[in-house]
Amino acid sequence: MMKKYWLTCDPGLEMVLESELAQIEGCSWEPFVPFRAKLWVAAPAVEPLLRLRSVHHVAELLHRVPLEDDTLESVTAALQGLSVPQMETARSFRVSSSRWGNHAYGSMDVMREAGAVLWRRYGTRVDLHQFDLEIRVDIHQNEMMVGIQHTPKSLAYRIKYKFIHQTPLKSTAAFGLLTLAELQPGETILDPFCGGGTLPIEGALAFGDRFRWVGSDLFMDNVEGARLNAVENGVEELIEFVQADARDLRATFGQVDVIVTDPPYGLKSGKNVGMATLYEKFIASAGEVLRLGGRLVILSPRKAVMLKGIQRAGCFRVRLEKLVETGPIKGTLFVLVRMGGEG
Ligand SMILES: C[S@@+](CC[C@H](N)C(=O)[O-])C[C@H]1O[C@@H](n2cnc3c(N)ncnc32)[C@H](O)[C@@H]1O
Repeated sequence: MMKKYWLTCDPGLEMVLESELAQIEGCSWEPFVPFRAKLWVAAPAVEPLLRLRSVHHVAELLHRVPLEDDTLESVTAALQGLSVPQMETARSFRVSSSRWGNHAYGSMDVMREAGAVLWRRYGTRVDLHQFDLEIRVDIHQNEMMVGIQHTPKSLAYRIKYKFIHQTPLKSTAAFGLLTLAELQPGETILDPFCGGGTLPIEGALAFGDRFRWVGSDLFMDNVEGARLNAVENGVEELIEFVQADARDLRATFGQVDVIVTDPPYGLKSGKNVGMATLYEKFIASAGEVLRLGGRLVILSPRKAVMLKGIQRAGCFRVRLEKLVETGPIKGTLFVLVRMGGEG
């Protein structure tokens, strides 16, 4: 029997989630209007959805109920009599909620009220931290969605970090960037600003030894930290980490097929100086080591300097440009293809 779920992903990377869903037999989906990064999904079971690599959260829909008005009383009334069979066997539960629209209450009120209604009905103990079951009660304008949250924490945090980098990329975004690079078996994929190693580690976890993974960074402590992180995730055999300057990749690397990366943003540190030169030199240097037809996938909030670098290098065709939000970063994603001598 088909069940209905709502899934979230990084805003701007919905097409990556859709390409993953397309591989699940019997699965269909539609946008969760008016939200970005949210899809309604019909699927025969939850397990394949929990294995998706571009997903943050998976919730299973139990009830979708219209609300009478914008008061908390209308939420309480709508909750009365709704059955949540999973509550019968759970030892403890909690309610979480998100709310969108104008109401005379906040999401905290919904959590408290729904918790009380469900506790009165089933007698199951509330535990906000060590819960067996998480019930979602989301309010979207004049509609209430009640469901089971299958992801107690976001699936974006699957990589284990022994070494904590200052600005780690989310693993969902790393998977998205790698997917958009359209990797071909046997290709060498380099992240020349690898930091704590998220991109090659996610690549090795998701795609394994069908590819050659390389990560490099200017600073040796990052290179060593990324190696530690690879060990922590059991993929150290699959990744080569080296120290290298991304402004002069030719000094360290021969030809590579694909470069996938998120260069420094210079926002956290407040440093603006040097970013334009860094990006310009890096993009030109990427053009030198990439084979013809090779791809450069780059995500950064520095759109203007990326565009300038692309223009100056003069050897890339823009295959895709997309606004992507991942964590606190609102950036532009470019998928570039290394063109031949014809320009
Ligand atoms: C935004 S962080 C990358 C974060 C990484 N994706 C992760 O998940 O940990 C950018 C990285 O670029 C490195 N970097 C800065 N200038 C560099 C250069 N000229 N060559 C190579 N790496 C550089 C920094 O040390 C930093 O680790």
